[in-house]
Amino acid sequence: MKVRNDITTREDIELLVNHFYACVQSDALLSPQFSHVDWPKHLPIMYNFWSSMILGEQSYQGNPFQKHINLAIGSEHFGQWLRLFVNTVDENFQGERAEEIKTRAQHIAQLFQHKMGLH
Ligand code: HEM
Repeated sequence: MKVRNDITTREDIELLVNHFYACVQSDALLSPQFSHVDWPKHLPIMYNFWSSMILGEQSYQGNPFQKHINLAIGSEHFGQWLRLFVNTVDENFQGERAEEIKTRAQHIAQLFQHKMGLH
């Protein structure tokens, strides 16, 4: 059985982000929302975002919500996004930070949905 360690380094975050967006790109519901995305540009932004959230790096500066305002997404997209995110974390990591990153993602998704008037 594969031994799963906790998220401790930026390399771990990069692996998680790469796996997650690979799932997103092959997901029938979510992939159309990402069809315009410039991946070589977007992925490093996401490495910075999650490293800042989880590892205490201060590498992300931005306004994430702003990027989502004009997307045609509903609660079903957020539900699927979270399912894929949680699965990707669970398949690769186990530990305190692995739990924390799932909780953070869930809270941000809730906040986005609240701001968008979704429930
Ligand atoms: C239905 C769910 C979601 C969809 C369809 C979605 C889609 C997108 C898209 C299309 C972008 C812009 C990428 C680009 O133009 O390069 C983006 C950026 C981003 N998203 Fe999401 N997203 C979703 C949920 C979330 C959640 C729950 C989080 C946080 C936990 C999140 C965090 C971010 C961040 C940090 C950025 C980068 C913002 C920046 O450029 O500074 N997204 N997302």
